[in-house]
Amino acid sequence: MHPYRATQISEHVWWVGAVDWNMRDFHGYSTNRGTTYNAYLVMGEKITLIDTVKAPFCGEMLSRVASVVDPAEISYIVSNHAEMDHSGSLAAAIDAVKPEKVFASQLGAKALVEHFSLPMPITPVKDGETLDLGNLKITFAETRMVHWPDSMVSWIPGDDVLISQDGFGMHLATSERFADEIDSSVLEFEGGRYFANILLPFAPLVAKVIGRLPALGIAPKVIAPDHGPVWRQDLGRILGWYAAWTLQQKRRKALVVYDTMWHSTALMAHAIADGLETGGVSVKLMSLKANHRSDILHEVLDAGALLVGSPTLNNNIYPSLADFLTYLKGLKPQHLIGAAFGSYGWSGEAVGQVKEYLEAMKVELIHDGLRQKFVPDAKCLGECAALGKSTAEKLIARVG
Ligand code: FEO
Repeated sequence: MHPYRATQISEHVWWVGAVDWNMRDFHGYSTNRGTTYNAYLVMGEKITLIDTVKAPFCGEMLSRVASVVDPAEISYIVSNHAEMDHSGSLAAAIDAVKPEKVFASQLGAKALVEHFSLPMPITPVKDGETLDLGNLKITFAETRMVHWPDSMVSWIPGDDVLISQDGFGMHLATSERFADEIDSSVLEFEGGRYFANILLPFAPLVAKVIGRLPALGIAPKVIAPDHGPVWRQDLGRILGWYAAWTLQQKRRKALVVYDTMWHSTALMAHAIADGLETGGVSVKLMSLKANHRSDILHEVLDAGALLVGSPTLNNNIYPSLADFLTYLKGLKPQHLIGAAFGSYGWSGEAVGQVKEYLEAMKVELIHDGLRQKFVPDAKCLGECAALGKSTAEKLIARVG
């Protein structure tokens, strides 16, 4: 195998992860720019590997380790998170390294044995527990449900490195290892997409976890997540973005998300978008034929209004709407106003079904649901424009 190189990120810590240039789907989230699986080698007297990589990349990780030290010299392995993009190589790494111990959170230790047949037991660590590496220490802090029950982070005082697991991560494959080497707009875009598609349901918990760090004596100079670049400069940028994203701060922006069968629901969507624009808000008109669900979720992050249109097909919502609304509901967006709309031919159940989804997501409905039999006429399009305008007025009253 081609020898891979590690990258030093602090006096004692090296990045030894893998770059997955070709990954395009992460459980339903479209990852257009690939990703990295970050693992970190802590060169204490007891050499420690923190996290592993997705199973096919184990060789790449061990090759990067070997560029620093013989993998057999590793004493400990820490698993911060049991999801398989970080634990998939654990069994193979244990076989290759033969560590003295493998550590995980208490729930992590359980989750790992529910995933794998491991050649040695996992030693559970408690929240706040410290692992002594001789000349260095690692303190573990549980971050339950950010974003799995087992999740924890590892803090290396002295080097002041926070290995933050999925938090502060992004799916972005690059040859650059540090955020300060990458265009800031790309970081904000991919960081926001990651937050919207992975962390959104846990946004209040993410804020709580970040708020708890100073009380634990954690004041990082380096934030090293498990995906994407490492932050060693201007940490205020990523922390500032997280402050806004965790609050799901909304602005004067509305989304009109729809699909269409014979273009009638599309005509309604355009008229609603026109009304929103007339009302003074920024609009994104997002056809499900042209937009992936995960790109729409990214737009939902700062949009204050969501109008969803579906034709009725065989007494049901259109299949693409079922996909989108199921995905959206699971990610629990907050602070939205909205309404359902759509054209139908016979019985027209879809608008009511979309409305039920919006109600289940606690979207504040500003209309009972705008339905049109077959092709919208001038009266219907006027009502659509009026719905857009009244939505804009309500949104401006909310967000200023
Ligand atoms: Fe990157 Fe939750 O795994």
